[in-house]
Amino acid sequence: MEVERVQLIASLCASDDGAMPPEFIRSDHEQPCLTTFLGPAPAIPVVDLAASDGSEITRAIVEASREWGIFQVVGHGVPEDVVRELQRAGREFFEELPQEEKEKYARAEAGGGSPTSGGQEGYGTKLQRELEGKKAWVDFFFHYIAPPSKVNHGIWPVLPAVDYRNITEEYAKYVVDLVDRMLTELSKGLELEEQALKEAVGGDSLNFLLKINYYPPCPRPNVALGVVAHTDMSAITILVPNDVPGLQILKDDHWINVDYIPNAIIVHIGDQIEILSNGIYKSVLHRSTVSKEKVRMSWPVFCSPPGDAVIGPLQQVVNEDNPPKYKAKMYKDYAYCKINKLPQ
Ligand code: OGA
Ligand code: NI
Repeated sequence: MEVERVQLIASLCASDDGAMPPEFIRSDHEQPCLTTFLGPAPAIPVVDLAASDGSEITRAIVEASREWGIFQVVGHGVPEDVVRELQRAGREFFEELPQEEKEKYARAEAGGGSPTSGGQEGYGTKLQRELEGKKAWVDFFFHYIAPPSKVNHGIWPVLPAVDYRNITEEYAKYVVDLVDRMLTELSKGLELEEQALKEAVGGDSLNFLLKINYYPPCPRPNVALGVVAHTDMSAITILVPNDVPGLQILKDDHWINVDYIPNAIIVHIGDQIEILSNGIYKSVLHRSTVSKEKVRMSWPVFCSPPGDAVIGPLQQVVNEDNPPKYKAKMYKDYAYCKINKLPQ
């Protein structure tokens, strides 16, 4: 079955005086113009990883992960030009390759399978089965960037003007190190051994899956959504955006905007860290809005346990007064239920 790319729909809308197909109009409880909180809202925490006081860095990360489930990091050590090149390469795939070239990378969309179960890498438009038959205003590209055993360079785009492979491998090295550091800090915050969370999510078998989100200009951004409200099923997600704001999180029942901070990287706590910590750390509910004039893009890297890793509340964080709040189950079973909207 032919998939309709949002990028193509957007270009048709642009030439048709702004008409938007009705399946992109969200119901009232989702429309950004009806649900975005406009009052004064606190900004999500920003942590400087290059600050001199190490225990203060730990404290800030731990507090942000407990209260917000999301924070931005600066002083993270990922060079600006590495991120800029990553962005240039991703943009080139969507904007410079002819559509028929892009379709050679199309992923199998059928059956709502899991991106963790293999065979789900590539260029795509629909990730999850959507309730109410609504569509999200976004195309994407998915592929593993680590560990080496998971990486299939055959699906990585080959581009005319940039060396996609070198650029992406360079970025991947920094992300692996950053995630290591985050897991160490989060372990300390639970009074565990520094390696405890890393080991619990599979150690060096932790999977790093890059997604490139491409949100074309949208004729009716007030009533459409890019990615609909969700928590990430990963352990942790590391995201770089372009300079077009659009990420929103639910905080104290309000949808609030995440500010764009040049050169910052966004860290999301995902479901698996919430589960391992027995709810001490929060997996953040988030969504993305789109822009009328500008292309929004983002590059989340989902860091997830291998499929056969059993994830449940760590025994060190549960006791009689604090019993397990989550079932222990294999990550691949968790992912299957999440993607197919089945109870866990
Ligand atoms: C996602 C996501 C947010 C964004 O792809 O899971 O939450 O800012 N993206 O694009
Ligand atoms: Ni997400």
